[in-house]
Amino acid sequence: MSSRRPARTDRKVRRGQTGGDANVTGKDEQRAWPAVGEFEFKAAIRQVASAVFVLTARSGEKVSGLTATSLCSVSSEPPLVLVSVNSQATVERLVSESGAFAVNFLSEDQHRIGRLFTGTEFTSRERFAEGVWEKLVTGAPILDAAMATFDCVVESTFVHGSHTIFFGRVVAALSLDQECLIYRDGSFRRLAPVI
Ligand SMILES: Cc1cc2nc3c(=O)[nH]c(=O)nc-3n(C[C@H](O)[C@H](O)[C@H](O)COP(=O)(O)O)c2cc1C
Repeated sequence: MSSRRPARTDRKVRRGQTGGDANVTGKDEQRAWPAVGEFEFKAAIRQVASAVFVLTARSGEKVSGLTATSLCSVSSEPPLVLVSVNSQATVERLVSESGAFAVNFLSEDQHRIGRLFTGTEFTSRERFAEGVWEKLVTGAPILDAAMATFDCVVESTFVHGSHTIFFGRVVAALSLDQECLIYRDGSFRRLAPVI
């Protein structure tokens, strides 16, 4: 007996979905791939829940940080992560200058820090006035009582489109058993158990 699933004929049209005959199967290699619009891309990516961290860097006397979600664990041997940072962001220059950055994953009760480190409302001094910030190995600011912390040395850098992707070798890691802060569909949230 075949265990193949029946063809899906019940696909719902979702928010932001384009209709028509877009080649989504990849079988017809003669055809050009469709270009997804910014609206469709953003509508879909907004639904993806992500843990929130503050990316920080220090270069000489200067410190900077921004709220971010774009961390990917690349490998454990060697311990490598990547982060994607807007090339216009203040912290991007400090990461490039110093060759180091820190990733501070926020616990749910650190949501105010998540808000402080995004947008144009607050200066760097005002951002770092909330919470206790220390140094570990590289000198990048480390947030006390963060859920998980990775202190990283930049191994390689790729500029792609509007963003710079930094691969960082983790030289120190800390963690606490706490509930993490989540971001989805434009707001900070808490993680709830399914049962
Ligand atoms: C939940 C959330 C996630 C974000 N993720 C990123 C990210 O991964 N990379 C990035 O460059 N900016 C990200 N941003 C935008 C920056 O936080 C924002 O542009 C910040 O103001 C830039 O710092 P600056 O004003 O000091 O340059 C994110 C914002 C929010 C609210």
